[in-house]
Amino acid sequence: MCGIIATLSYNDNISNDLVSALERLEYRGYDSAGIAYLDNDFSLQRIRTVGKVQLLKAAVEKKHIKSHIGIGHTRWATHGKVTELNAHPHTADGVAIVHNGIIENYQELKKRLVNEGYIFESETDTEVIAKLIASHIKSGEKFFEAFKKSINELAGTFAIVAIYEKEPNILLGAKKGSPMAVGLSPDKQSGYIASDAVALSTLADELAYLEEGDIVIVKKGDQFLYEIFDPNGRRIRRKSVPNKVSLNDVSKNGYESFMLKEIFEEATVARKTYTRFNYDLDISKFDNISIIACGTSYYAGAVAKYWIEDIAKIHVDVEIASEFRYRNPVFAKNSLYIFISQSGETIDTLCAMRLVKEAGIKTLALVNVETSSIAREADFVIKTEAGVEIGVASTKAFVAQILSLLMLCCRNIDIETIELSINAVLNGNYDFTGLANKIKHSRSLFYIGRGVSYPIALEGALKIKELSYISAEGYPAGEIKHGPIAIIDENIYTMALAPYDKYFDKTISNTQEILARNGKVLLITTNDAKNFLHGIDQNENVECVFLPANNPLYLPFSLTTFTHLLAYYTAKAKGHDVDKPRNLAKSVTVE
Ligand code: G6P
Repeated sequence: MCGIIATLSYNDNISNDLVSALERLEYRGYDSAGIAYLDNDFSLQRIRTVGKVQLLKAAVEKKHIKSHIGIGHTRWATHGKVTELNAHPHTADGVAIVHNGIIENYQELKKRLVNEGYIFESETDTEVIAKLIASHIKSGEKFFEAFKKSINELAGTFAIVAIYEKEPNILLGAKKGSPMAVGLSPDKQSGYIASDAVALSTLADELAYLEEGDIVIVKKGDQFLYEIFDPNGRRIRRKSVPNKVSLNDVSKNGYESFMLKEIFEEATVARKTYTRFNYDLDISKFDNISIIACGTSYYAGAVAKYWIEDIAKIHVDVEIASEFRYRNPVFAKNSLYIFISQSGETIDTLCAMRLVKEAGIKTLALVNVETSSIAREADFVIKTEAGVEIGVASTKAFVAQILSLLMLCCRNIDIETIELSINAVLNGNYDFTGLANKIKHSRSLFYIGRGVSYPIALEGALKIKELSYISAEGYPAGEIKHGPIAIIDENIYTMALAPYDKYFDKTISNTQEILARNGKVLLITTNDAKNFLHGIDQNENVECVFLPANNPLYLPFSLTTFTHLLAYYTAKAKGHDVDKPRNLAKSVTVE
């Protein structure tokens, strides 16, 4: 959440690096963007724009900036509306800072700084940081000391980078709760601090990740270097790892959006996940499994519950991380705790994992970003093989997650069939645009399913909400008559996931109940159901699509790809930016 980039260089064209990194960081937030830099006279300049990075880029290009040090930010608003005044960087007496996270004690700090005479221009929690550093400098501290003192006074979570016009050859960064990486360019002409590796693809080929409480200083002297200090102020070496994010990962490769590119990678991702899966964890030795996650990752856990209980006969709980962490959970004996996260940075999932660790229980993380905080703090890690995911709504990562979870309880799977069934949806002749044009007018939508199709219905509904802004509810098909059916009328579309499995007849009955109330239905079923539809396909309110028949175990894969494409085309039919849906951000590092 919120993207950060900072650079110090021997060259004076840093604005290109800042803007290109911000373009790549945009998936972390796109309410506003801004940069601050020191010009050739070492005076602090700032450009901020409301909206997407493109607008900032145009404003920056007009200025023909010559500068060797600067910071940049893409914002996902927490405190204060989406305005230019609230956009980062925030400044005070020659200090400029960018921040990701939330400063919990900002009201109290603000009061103190207002008493000292500081005038605040924004509604943000962030501005106190700039003023606090400036206030310590005014009391006689050097920039580094002032920064350190300020960081020690902050409560909450943050990744912060600062520059100061009177000390133009250093960049300072601090991390607590939000990710931060540091690296140098291969020619050692520039140093960078950023909120993730994606920002630094093409800029730095090796990165060191800061640990909790670390402070980093990037310095320019005879030689370019960075130094990291632990929370006790000791200089410390953090392991440098290759930056594996390539240009290819951060390009659309001819697709009109990252999301479409990523959905079209779902079959390849499934194959890669299968091929690279070499974890020999024997889950049969546990009496219980608890799966904890947020968003789409939570639904991957919900799919796995059906599989693990069915195949491995182990009781499984699936929990939303933000609820788990605050409800004084009782830890079951001999239980395996699995934390699922694409980004590996979701703060609620990370904190839920810490809670389990504090109870002395071993944790297993299923993460897509191996350098992430969750991956680094978990006792055991399974890396999902989705590759870099940029589209804000998670798609291919979900496929990698469910396949990894399936492989935890069943090694002997037919990957060929899974791959073929996903490809059949990707390359089939489904009229997604036609379907999207029908459902896009619905006042609200239902997605229903039974068995393992139920969590897929939840995932399908989430995707519709995220991208089309249509209120959509995923529901167990059998539960719809216990309330939601009151909403059904001729203006409501229901997507019924009814593959030809053991639940088929029951789901069809529930679909008939919806049709009896004049609801409209998109029946998503499989080819082998064709002879058993009992005329439901003839109903004028029913649209039928047939996915390939499959072993019931593998049905979630083709259903997933179908629901992802349907959400994609519905959002497109509504004219929305599918890669940057409103109000969302990909990596949720605040509570
Ligand atoms: C955000 C994203 C979702 C994602 C969720 C959990 O809300 O928009 O797509 O599923 O975070 O993220 P994680 O990185 O922990 O899987």
